[in-house]
Amino acid sequence: MKKLALFTVAVTLMLVGCAQKNNQNTPNQGKETPEMKKTLIVYFSATGNTKAAAQKLAEEFSADLYEITPEQPYTAADLDWRDKTSRSTIEMKDKSSRPAIKGRCENIADYDTVWIGFPIWWYTAPTIVNTFIEAHDLSGKLLNVFATSGGSDVKDSYNDLKKAYPQYKWGESRLMND
Ligand SMILES: Cc1cc2nc3c(=O)[nH]c(=O)nc-3n(C[C@H](O)[C@H](O)[C@H](O)COP(=O)(O)O)c2cc1C
Repeated sequence: MKKLALFTVAVTLMLVGCAQKNNQNTPNQGKETPEMKKTLIVYFSATGNTKAAAQKLAEEFSADLYEITPEQPYTAADLDWRDKTSRSTIEMKDKSSRPAIKGRCENIADYDTVWIGFPIWWYTAPTIVNTFIEAHDLSGKLLNVFATSGGSDVKDSYNDLKKAYPQYKWGESRLMND
């Protein structure tokens, strides 16, 4: 009986030793290293300007790109901001509009920083950007904003998004008109 007890203690001590050793040998356990951080550039672009800006950012941060694609592409007539009956005017007047998007970013969980980019429409982000945000879980990620425009600053768009989604962590914003 005494022998059995001694044997049990010896085996237990050996196993604990192995577990500790394994812990020491596992690289980066519980630690964050720069290699583990991944950046995603998400963008919507109706006429290509924001797409070009997104490509520049992707190069700068060695990041992956994801394009928000509308289920129904925007035509030139849809984008006519002078026309009160155009699709973009109607969508932007109705803050609750959520134009449908094709697919979703299935591996969004792999990224801890996400840049969200768009053309400024009526001084803010097109509502299709809201569709994207609401279709994904962005909690815990650092969200940065970039935009192109005919001259409007990105600050209002950034503040609108921050106000609409206060549960998320918002970082910097960039206007990328050049
Ligand atoms: C419907 C609509 C509304 C716009 N509203 C604004 C605006 O409020 N301020 C501004 O500076 N530019 C405005 N623009 C211009 C776009 O922001 C600009 O051309 C942008 O670079 C287009 O990006 P894209 O080529 O990625 O679609 C508007 C364009 C459209 C089509």
